[in-house]
Amino acid sequence: MDIAKALSLMLTNEGSSTLYQGLNLIKKPGVYHVGVPTISGTGAEVSMTAVLTGPVKKLGLKCEWTVFNQIVLDPDLIASVPRNWWFYTGMDTYIHCIESENGRMNNAYSHAYAEQSMKLCREVYLGENSGQTPENDDKLMVASMMGGLSLTYSEVGVCHALSYGLSKILGTRHCYANCLIMNHLEDYYPEGVAEFKEMVAYHQIDLPQGLSKDWSDDIITQMAHVSYNLPHMWLHAIGDNWQEVITIDLLKDLFRRL
Ligand SMILES: [Fe+2]
Repeated sequence: MDIAKALSLMLTNEGSSTLYQGLNLIKKPGVYHVGVPTISGTGAEVSMTAVLTGPVKKLGLKCEWTVFNQIVLDPDLIASVPRNWWFYTGMDTYIHCIESENGRMNNAYSHAYAEQSMKLCREVYLGENSGQTPENDDKLMVASMMGGLSLTYSEVGVCHALSYGLSKILGTRHCYANCLIMNHLEDYYPEGVAEFKEMVAYHQIDLPQGLSKDWSDDIITQMAHVSYNLPHMWLHAIGDNWQEVITIDLLKDLFRRL
């Protein structure tokens, strides 16, 4: 979906897409594009960002023309998503809401969507009716959309900043990377992490630990630098003084927890 959004813009804007990684750098509207999700959770069907991993950075093309002109949400299309990916992608939505809520960009609009999306996530992933059922597929598809709207009008935070570092350097897929990291963010999102762990345990999802023991200091330093260079996320999550709180060493320590 992100590639489709970027492609729509690159058909009308000249040069390499790397020129447009950032906010409002696109000059002209793209071509009409329609999104039909076959997996739910990233919110890419409604978000204003076309996330691209370029030679230097992993950063979205973000502007008012990125969004799909039309989306088709048909829950039958997510019925066959493999169980692990159903969990990881759904948790992306849940994490979007936790991060959108916990930061200074949160507002009445993003809060309303996050609240509803988290309610739906709890119905899908916790309790006796949880699991991959047609009813829950309806809910997850709506939760994904609402989580996407919440983050679009607020911002993501610590988990996504670290996740971008991990994905950029090791190519780890976004939703899975988020889950690996969220597992260790009690210091930042205590309630969200506790509930996330409850969902992991409920569905007996295997999240590997001790990954960092195979990573060199150089790899960890590279990840930390990618994460550090996402000031919009840190400003939202930590505040104006984020550079006093978040240092390369602190980020390296967080990566070593994985
Ligand atoms: Fe995400």
